[in-house]
Amino acid sequence: MPLKLLMCPPDYFGVEYIINPWMEGQVGKVDRALAIKQWRSFYQPVSQKANVELIYPNRHTPDMVFTANCGLVWNQSFIPSRFKNPERQSEEALFTQWFRERGFKIVSLPEGIAFEGAGDALVPPDKETLWMGHGFRTDAEAHLFLSEMLKTRIISLRLIHPHFYHLDTCFCPLHNGTVLYYPDAFDEISNHMIRHNATKAIPVSKEDAFKMACNTVLLEDTLFMNSASPILKKSLEAEGYTVCIQEVSEFIKAGGANRCLTFSWH
Ligand code: ARG
Repeated sequence: MPLKLLMCPPDYFGVEYIINPWMEGQVGKVDRALAIKQWRSFYQPVSQKANVELIYPNRHTPDMVFTANCGLVWNQSFIPSRFKNPERQSEEALFTQWFRERGFKIVSLPEGIAFEGAGDALVPPDKETLWMGHGFRTDAEAHLFLSEMLKTRIISLRLIHPHFYHLDTCFCPLHNGTVLYYPDAFDEISNHMIRHNATKAIPVSKEDAFKMACNTVLLEDTLFMNSASPILKKSLEAEGYTVCIQEVSEFIKAGGANRCLTFSWH
């Protein structure tokens, strides 16, 4: 069965508030026409490889294009996000309704525990373990609740760099236990846990990290990413991947790139 992806057209996307360092100085600076163009050029090849579904955009939720943050699907259940920042909390009901209408069982985390969905909870292609981040948006308590709820092993990583506030901005599980990551985004213990638990951990440079190279969508053997230096491209190709560059500079003004623009489940 092909992977399912949820995306949200950028009709109302913009930087209207500041909740991460990328957004600083960017309020009102998004070129909406260019954002729509970039989103469509990304959507096109992605929809050839996955079954992409769309959710209606909403005038009052400019960050809703970042569907990665909607929640988490586990078997037939949908666990909605509980956004840390009030600016994004009205997205919760919109995403929950979408999944409810499609027959998912809605399983909520207790109130007061922040959880930002697949931004901070990454399921590797083999579904063996769940890599989760905490420190900025998702509370560490959410990891405990999820490991209980899902009865699965969770590797809890602490994020320490404000630009890399969601796990998917600095970490990407690939095939066979390989991961892509930006070491400076994590504390020492988490760096150790990554190297210990991954079969192979490929570090990215600061330059690649700041171009959101870890915020990659993996479909079959293709990696869709905003940018990759020649060195990174070469090492990914040596692992058997095809790198497909899809520039999403307008979305990076809000602190998100390719992966944030998608939410996936099997
Ligand atoms: N402006 C959004 C926020 O700060 C960007 C979210 C990016 N999404 C992601 N999965 N990293 O919440």
